[in-house]
Amino acid sequence: MKTYLVTGGAGFIGSNFVKYMLNKYNETIRLIVLDKLTYAGNLINLESELDKVVFIKGDICDQETIKAVFEKEEIDYVVNFAAESHVDRSIENPQLFMQTNILGTQNLLEISKKNWQIDDDVYKESVRFVQVSTDEVYGSLENEGYFTENTPIRPRSPYSASKASADMIVQAYIETYKYPANITRCSNNYGPFHFPEKLIPLIIKNVLEGRSLPVYGDGTNVRDWLYVKDHCKAIDLVLHKGKQGMVYNVGGHNEKQNIEIVRIIIDIVKNFMVEKPSYQTILKTELSKINYELIRFVKDRKGHDKRYAIDPTRIKCELGWYPETKFEEGIVKTVEWYLENQNWVDSVASGEYKEYYEKMYKGR
Ligand code: NAD
Ligand code: TYD
Repeated sequence: MKTYLVTGGAGFIGSNFVKYMLNKYNETIRLIVLDKLTYAGNLINLESELDKVVFIKGDICDQETIKAVFEKEEIDYVVNFAAESHVDRSIENPQLFMQTNILGTQNLLEISKKNWQIDDDVYKESVRFVQVSTDEVYGSLENEGYFTENTPIRPRSPYSASKASADMIVQAYIETYKYPANITRCSNNYGPFHFPEKLIPLIIKNVLEGRSLPVYGDGTNVRDWLYVKDHCKAIDLVLHKGKQGMVYNVGGHNEKQNIEIVRIIIDIVKNFMVEKPSYQTILKTELSKINYELIRFVKDRKGHDKRYAIDPTRIKCELGWYPETKFEEGIVKTVEWYLENQNWVDSVASGEYKEYYEKMYKGR
């Protein structure tokens, strides 16, 4: 039975990955989830999985914690999701991003290397480290062109600079020590369990509450949206079939301007309310007030990247990956998930989710 160390597994993508892997491999894998449970880590995301995984509250920067995990467990795979992930927060407090995203990654690399190495440049069979990175390391595109794996790294925010630095350290381990790793660089994910500070969940939440919908600048910035489950599938493929040392871009060919996203969400919420009037009990505003007049153009983000767009040819041709979920379907499923999971939204909004770890693990 293979053992996976999933860092940051209580966050948005990490928790979706845990569900994806348990569902796909059923009882045939062992998952160790390590997460510091920062404001973005929510153990309620793994409520249905806690009896199927080993959960460790811990920091990837902490040498003793990571050493202890490798001493206790025969880890075959590491998937590193753990990170500070919000660009706006990185503009306010860059240092935390450097600590976790850069030094934390290096700590994981070093300790796993020591545990996996059996001779100079020789590692245990079929061990693998996947660094979950981002297309933001490539910087910003104008209206034309796509990011390929050969696009030069040109990060422009403290967040993307920290992720790019981590990528370069992973690449240094690959080149210097022949360390068995891959890097995935994906576009913006969306789907269930997305923390409502990011565009899509924030807009859904604000629409339901009749609050204004903040759109940075003129709303024409473009993101290339990827349904989170399609991303999880890509990581699983890279872990098991990725060529040693290779970088893989993962993207859904779903480019949308931010303003389009906001309008689409307003339309979908309205449709749900009309087609299924029982949802109207969720509304904290009148149905007639759900319209485009909620949109507010606000001060632009500093250094706001104009456009991201991924060319996923390599992962498609080499590993047969493709994005199964069309944006039109994925965004409806996502809005529906938020409508069906208002308890989750409420526990995040009230901060109650932070108490869940104590409740579950006190005295254990
Ligand atoms: P998230 O913020 O929802 O989750 C991050 C998780 O990491 C949280 O559970 C948090 O508690 C944990 N964490 C933070 N610091 C830690 C530390 N020092 N030690 C252990 N755990 C720590 O982020 P996400 O959106 O799920 O993103 C996961 C990964 O994917 C990140 O590495 C991010 O850079 C990358 N990524 C995300 C997107 C996206 O659209 N969300 C796109 C591209 C890449
Ligand atoms: P975000 O979800 O923070 O992801 P990222 O910055 O990693 O792409 O933002 C997505 C886009 O939406 C980005 O162009 C910034 C914009 N945005 C808004 O216009 N308003 C908001 O309130 C937020 C959070 C983001």
